[in-house]
Amino acid sequence: MNETVGKPIDRVDGKLKVTGGATYSAEFNIKNMVHGVAVLSTIAKGRIKNINTGIAEKSPGVIEILTYKNSMQLHSPSSSDPGGGKFAEKDLLPLQNDRVFYDGQIIAVVIAETFEQAEYASHLVKVDYQVEEPVFDLLKNIGKAYKPASGLGGAETQVSRGNAAEAMKTASVKIEQTYTTPVYHHNAMEPHATIALWQGETVLFYDATQSVAGVKSLMSSMLGVPKEKVRVISYYIGGGFGSKGFTWPNTVLTAMAAKLANRPVKLVLSRQQAFTTVGRRSETIQKIALGADQTGKLSAIQHHNTVESSFVDEFVETAGVATPMLYSSQNVDVSHSLVRLNKVTPCPMRAPGEAPGTYGLEVAMDELAYQSKIDPVQLRLINYAEEDEDKHKKFSSKNLRECYQKGAALIGWDKRNPQPASMKEGKMLVGYGMATATYPANRSASSAKAVLFADGHAEIRCATQDIGTGTYTIMTQTAADALGLPIEKVKVKLGDSEFPKGAQSGGSQVTASVGPAIRAASLGVVSKLIKFAVADAKSPLHGQKEADITAQNERIFLTTKPAQGEAYTDILKRQNLQQLQAQAATKVSTRQKTEANPAAGGSPEKEIEDESKTNIAVQEDEKLDRKPFSFHSFGAHFVKVLVDPDLGMIHVDKAVAVMDVGTIMNEKTAKNQIMGGMVFGIGMALMEETQYDPNRGRPVTRDLANYLVPVNADMPEFVVEFINKPDTIISPIGARGIGEIGITGITAAINNAIYHATGKRVRELPVTPDKLL
Ligand code: MOS
Repeated sequence: MNETVGKPIDRVDGKLKVTGGATYSAEFNIKNMVHGVAVLSTIAKGRIKNINTGIAEKSPGVIEILTYKNSMQLHSPSSSDPGGGKFAEKDLLPLQNDRVFYDGQIIAVVIAETFEQAEYASHLVKVDYQVEEPVFDLLKNIGKAYKPASGLGGAETQVSRGNAAEAMKTASVKIEQTYTTPVYHHNAMEPHATIALWQGETVLFYDATQSVAGVKSLMSSMLGVPKEKVRVISYYIGGGFGSKGFTWPNTVLTAMAAKLANRPVKLVLSRQQAFTTVGRRSETIQKIALGADQTGKLSAIQHHNTVESSFVDEFVETAGVATPMLYSSQNVDVSHSLVRLNKVTPCPMRAPGEAPGTYGLEVAMDELAYQSKIDPVQLRLINYAEEDEDKHKKFSSKNLRECYQKGAALIGWDKRNPQPASMKEGKMLVGYGMATATYPANRSASSAKAVLFADGHAEIRCATQDIGTGTYTIMTQTAADALGLPIEKVKVKLGDSEFPKGAQSGGSQVTASVGPAIRAASLGVVSKLIKFAVADAKSPLHGQKEADITAQNERIFLTTKPAQGEAYTDILKRQNLQQLQAQAATKVSTRQKTEANPAAGGSPEKEIEDESKTNIAVQEDEKLDRKPFSFHSFGAHFVKVLVDPDLGMIHVDKAVAVMDVGTIMNEKTAKNQIMGGMVFGIGMALMEETQYDPNRGRPVTRDLANYLVPVNADMPEFVVEFINKPDTIISPIGARGIGEIGITGITAAINNAIYHATGKRVRELPVTPDKLL
């Protein structure tokens, strides 16, 4: 019964957030707490010959200075679980030796009574280096590229079917171009922040993370502390976008500093420090070739990507990951090559792979449309993939045609004159462009607990987290509907690793993973209530069939005779129960490869497994055979841009997105997620770019004055619509995640609109006015 799911209700944590009542990781005041400030390397490769902490140690308030010389020994992280719990740089455990692999690497932590004292003293640490020759430039080092065996979560990096090279030779229309995207940084509002507190052998973290469960397992293994003695709390998170998905050195260093100082330590990274210590999006060089016959049918697709990693881990920005399944073609060839550079390891950033990859592919499709003289929407319909031709599987649900149709109507595509530079408003050139959006529909194992209290309110507990996306809100709606309670009577508690293990907030998977677990736990409570009632001679439902009973409005009653029933509180009272709880664990995973099962053994509450065997909701969910299906979300972006012909200034005037992402859990938070992705895409297309000093390999655009992100004045009129058809295969709630799909395709749609406005094709992002003139 959907009473609240889908409704655009306000965020349940909205008031707390705007009144300062939501406590973020850096905001806990712990008695006796001191402050850590990181010291960063100033060379990109070499060794520390000498690190002189003498002067800094004498500076007022300084307690200890943590360096590789007095650091505790760390153990290798035990898991590199794609569902959460990956230490970012496996070959650079912090402060374990004198090696430097990139400029801005953390080489010391100054611990002082106040933040200001630590910050001041951090500048007094003197370091002599033995400098070695670094490599910085992707293009110049392309000769050193190698083919990585796999990407994130085991994603395939080299994929081919048919013979694309051969098919290109005979294609009647051909596009062969190179598209590039620069390094981007996440720049979440909330900085990376940790408080670590040792109490004997146990350690408590308040940590800004996309995975409390992942940080728990990592810190346990790295610090050599049993899992049950590590607790990680992250109640509110000010965005992550992938930068808080992997765990970076700052978290474990805070615990190391707290141990050394024997005091609780808070360590917050500055905006500048975040540019070199917590990841970034890899630069991409994408060589794309498309071949088509006279009718526009794609005979060949080639997508060869060169991307970068560091010398201390292998991360692949899988820009070609969507290419094998997005369009129908018999001949496809996708590859990824990796060049190692002396820079911090790249990491996932909102739609890792798909965001830059759909840029290249969808601009190439636009170029093909012009060359074939076929409308860009029509070209995509001609090459519509009815099934996943890469995996030879049906899609669990795909309604992309409707997205194109609806999007075209909403932007007024029929008024578009296809001729480039033909449309004007006043002196401004007008351009319309479109592109396809796509992102996998991930689901992984999750567990949750539901507790109904004697006063009639319920609590949900799950060790997942709300990174700012609305998870608290939609999980409240999910639980309220399953429990038959109004949302005011449901309190969802997340962000504490003591709770049953839930999914990482990454890969857009929380809604589809945690939602079914919370629903099943809630239904478990209802089922227990019904069992009590039918077995109790004092209940008006005594002796009735369980299947004939409905739960709604805080009571259970006969479905055909609603007056015959009773309130939850009456049942608990007669049973003399202060609380009634149920737990559920669902093991369903839609991931391509599941070499690690995030929930397996991860729950602190072992009885979850056993109870799930009797939970009908879990059983029905798990018995569905999902192997024949491929799980993806789709959508279409249509944008209108205005370009100043004299100045080259570009303004996105209107942006329409129509998304096919299964059931919409909350229309308001859903639109908010898609709009957020589109804003990210506007930044990516028009202004964002991390620029490096070519001699030092150091970011020079390392603050929000120089690394430009879109602001209100850059915003278009947004129109976001959903197909809102449940995906009945992925889960009983029918929803697929929406955190990332909004950024896919949007950069290409903007680029295609700029071409339509001006007749000039810029293939290197960002499209800045200088490139246009
Ligand atoms: Mo996302 S880049 O998987 O946090």
